[in-house]
Amino acid sequence: MVNLTTKYMGLTLKNPIIAGSSGLTNKLSDIIELEAQGAGAIVLKSLFEEEIINEAHDNINKMQASGFIYPETMDYFDFDEMEDPIANYLKLISDAKKAVKIPIIASINCVTSNKWPEFAKRIESAGADALELNVFALPTDLERTAEENEKVYFDIVSKVTGLVSIPVSIKISQYNTALGSFIKRLSDTPIKSIVLFNRFYSPDFDIHNFDFNSTTVFSTPAELSLPLRWVAIMANRVNCNLAASTGIHDGYGVVKALLAGADVVQVASTLYRNGFGHIGVMLKQIDEWMSEKGYKSIDDFKGKMSQSKSHNPAAFERVQFMKFFRDRVQK
Ligand SMILES: Cc1cc2nc3c(=O)[nH]c(=O)nc-3n(C[C@H](O)[C@H](O)[C@H](O)COP(=O)(O)O)c2cc1C
Repeated sequence: MVNLTTKYMGLTLKNPIIAGSSGLTNKLSDIIELEAQGAGAIVLKSLFEEEIINEAHDNINKMQASGFIYPETMDYFDFDEMEDPIANYLKLISDAKKAVKIPIIASINCVTSNKWPEFAKRIESAGADALELNVFALPTDLERTAEENEKVYFDIVSKVTGLVSIPVSIKISQYNTALGSFIKRLSDTPIKSIVLFNRFYSPDFDIHNFDFNSTTVFSTPAELSLPLRWVAIMANRVNCNLAASTGIHDGYGVVKALLAGADVVQVASTLYRNGFGHIGVMLKQIDEWMSEKGYKSIDDFKGKMSQSKSHNPAAFERVQFMKFFRDRVQK
């Protein structure tokens, strides 16, 4: 038997397959089932910054509008009692912690460093083992510079890590300038892991009705090439863990991400498509591959195909394309 145990953000995981943040990780019964099917850890569905900021105000506004409270009585209200989505989220964390043994990583979908970071402390108090910051910022503002965009990330990290002592990770997209330098500088903060990458829903056009629709919500295995390249480039060059996300649909995808240098993988689409039992299939595929290669633990091969250890570092860069096209033209 091979040993799939791995360390992630200082936590011990029985294997490197994490159920990524999605609609599959926001119910206690699903969390229990994900553990039963073999998940190494779970990232809960993200709570949105807007929910944290707006909820208390919404409740108060509704109560005022309905004449339920007089403005002067508001001074006597315990606003903490009124935060339903928030209370539900904190309850999910503490219920999950009681129900399963695997690490529970909470997640916040955020776009600013204003107002909400204090909430991270309550996530910590509810018992979460770690917190993932899902920074969902598409740099479409034509007036904002790259530095201004990046500052948002560093401000969020600095505020949150200054407030909590549980490990904090950050999930980013590929839409950042000077990506290698950006990832490296993020890793020099107190962040414990960087998740490469989040996957945005992308627009598509209906050319018959001139309407917009979106491409499929779920990834395809071909999309693994993007995180594979960037994990391979960054592995052994960053001061934190790396988690690969997007396009990992089977055990061989997990093996590729680990060979690139990822410490763990996060999966969502494949669990939607194939069910939670697919985690067992993936674990078996990893086990078989490792046995065939004679590897006993993940450390035996993690990062073996990262750019820094590769016998072919150019494979990740432009020169490979030039070679490919030159060969084709010559034929
Ligand atoms: C239906 C659905 C809901 C998702 N919700 C979240 C979310 O709340 N927070 C988050 O960080 N990522 C969310 N994701 C993104 C996934 O965690 C993951 O990063 C992305 O789907 C790429 O991984 P995959 O190829 O394994 O699906 C969601 C994905 C799906 C398909």
